[in-house]
Amino acid sequence: MKIFLDSANLVEIKEAVSWGAIDGVTTNPSLVSKEQQDFFELLRTICEIVNGPVSMETISKDAAGMAQEGRQFSALHPNIIVKCPLTKEGLKATRQLASEHIRVNVTLCFSPSQALLAAKAGAFYVSPFIGRLDDISNDGMQLIRQIKTIYANYRFPTQILVASVRHPIHVVEAAQIGADIATMPFGTLEALIRHPLTDIGLERFLKDWERLPQSARNLINPNVGSLAKAVR
Ligand code: G3P
Repeated sequence: MKIFLDSANLVEIKEAVSWGAIDGVTTNPSLVSKEQQDFFELLRTICEIVNGPVSMETISKDAAGMAQEGRQFSALHPNIIVKCPLTKEGLKATRQLASEHIRVNVTLCFSPSQALLAAKAGAFYVSPFIGRLDDISNDGMQLIRQIKTIYANYRFPTQILVASVRHPIHVVEAAQIGADIATMPFGTLEALIRHPLTDIGLERFLKDWERLPQSARNLINPNVGSLAKAVR
């Protein structure tokens, strides 16, 4: 499963890239507005930092406007994916952009029937929002299972991008189901790394290392270099 960072914050994106943790980025108007920067400049910079797909959402309400914005976004960088909402107009725009070979991420998906129509319109990704379903006492992860079955039944090539991910269990379950991608905020990505036993284990190893006499703690062994040279 690929991991995307759901953020438009350059500090977070650079940090996650430095861990080798992310395959792409997703943004939306709420995330972009938090950054208070020139929008196109921000988008271009994100594309330069991340070697993978970067989703940005159209904000028009009609299909023609969405398609026009989508063309502008995709002209910025080859890694741009255009986000269109799961409305009638969004599906029309998706169909149009897909016919022009522009990749579309159909977003704000909350039901299997919506996901079916996104695939039929030619979506490259569909983004089911699982956290927001959990928020209203629905089972977000059940939606991922349903979409997975439907897409497999008919061999739809649309990839399932699990969105509105809130915690590590969402990520693990999405991977177990076989979702193509999970996108998550920086805090959730960090939480995937943390384990108390890792911290305790590391502390113990380092304490034990201190027991070695100072003179024996030289980590740079002068003989290793000469040995390597001799072998060559
Ligand atoms: O990718 C969609 C995501 O940004 C929504 O997350 O936590 O606002 O439901 P959330």
